[in-house]
Amino acid sequence: VLLKSYNTFGIEATARYFAAFSSVNELQELIAARQESELPQLILGGGSNILFTQDFNGWLLKNEIKGITIVKEDNDYVYVKAGAGENWHGFVQHCIGLNLAGLENLSLIPGNVGASPMQNIGAYGVEIKDVFYELEALHLEDKTMVTFSNTDCHFGYRESVFKKEYRQQFAILAVTYRLSKQPHFNTSYGAINEELQRMNVTTLSIQAISQAVINIRSSKLPDPAQIGNAGSFFKNPTIDKAQYTALHEAFPQLVAYPVANDHYKLAAGWLIEQCGWKGYRKGDAGVHAKQALVLVNYGHAKGSEIYDLSGEVLASVKEKFGVELEREVNIV
Ligand code: FAD
Ligand code: EPU
Repeated sequence: VLLKSYNTFGIEATARYFAAFSSVNELQELIAARQESELPQLILGGGSNILFTQDFNGWLLKNEIKGITIVKEDNDYVYVKAGAGENWHGFVQHCIGLNLAGLENLSLIPGNVGASPMQNIGAYGVEIKDVFYELEALHLEDKTMVTFSNTDCHFGYRESVFKKEYRQQFAILAVTYRLSKQPHFNTSYGAINEELQRMNVTTLSIQAISQAVINIRSSKLPDPAQIGNAGSFFKNPTIDKAQYTALHEAFPQLVAYPVANDHYKLAAGWLIEQCGWKGYRKGDAGVHAKQALVLVNYGHAKGSEIYDLSGEVLASVKEKFGVELEREVNIV
């Protein structure tokens, strides 16, 4: 099966077997068939955080489990459960429509609900771990159902247990979010305030924050329907104070934010831009002209070409700044 339309990078790789499932039972049947064939399997959502560097010689199983339900409610919160195959932004908009707060800063992130805990998706001052309640997952070998609480997931910056010790071991089937009846607005990210002012918003609301985030994102992130990409290709790196002080002395314009334990998080996009990559293009592989952290496919780039370009970017940032970038996108 040709995968071009199943990954937002638009890579023209193939999968040996491809199937979609919309219930646990269908998934169980596919897993049984897969086990007989002894080929590897991979669960796929919206394909917006994945780079196929070669054809996938195994079973690619697309999660299309749907449904959004309110599972419980107390004085302050409403617990909303969504099937893994629900589109993320559709789910966010659904909750905003119910006047439930907590997801508005995460508007317009591509992909599906099921992948949201994988890397603890985050944007504009909020990460899903701030509102995540629990998830249900199927263990792909034992076929047992397991519930993970917030602490079970070991969420970190673009990290969870599902990218580390439980890598490839579970299919996430549904995720429950704990959303607030009373909003606690988060406008800590400078760009949001600027955009709210530009929009002439005088009374804050979750709708206004969502719209501000949508506007900012649309202005700098490439739309995968126009230019293939998977969002930020690298994580923003964290360095200790000594390294920060030395770097800041050498590069007074350095973009950095203090984080816990006397460390600093650097804007990888700035580091990459300083190395001269912004707007770079080689064949159909390139570095986005408005956001250097995003690698792009202008049409027919091979996954391996994007990957090689990311290696060149890594090496140049390491050479100029002595900082090691880490890839954020899942490489297959
Ligand atoms: P996929 O790409 O399909 O899968 C990602 C990984 O999760 C793969 O390893 C896959 O095997 C695994 N997986 C997917 N679904 C399941 C499941 N149900 N069970 C088990 N494993 C599963 N991310 C952010 O955090 N913040 C952003 O601001 C952001 N902006 C973006 C902007 C653009 C333009 C793009 C293209 C991407 C952006 N991303 C961002 C990355 C991406 O949107 C998220 O990582 C998203 O959660 C990926 O969802 P998906 O369904 O497309 O996952
Ligand atoms: N910058 C540059 N040049 C660039 C890009 C960025 O100098 O080409 C500098 C600017 O100073 C800018 C700063 O970097 O102010 C931060 O840039 P931006 O606000 O665009 O955010 P980011 O750090 O590049 C992160 C996330 C995004 C998320 C935004 C908003 C990571 C790896 N990326 O990007 O997530 O949407 O913040 O919160 O943490 C994704 O994960 O795919 C993603 C898009």
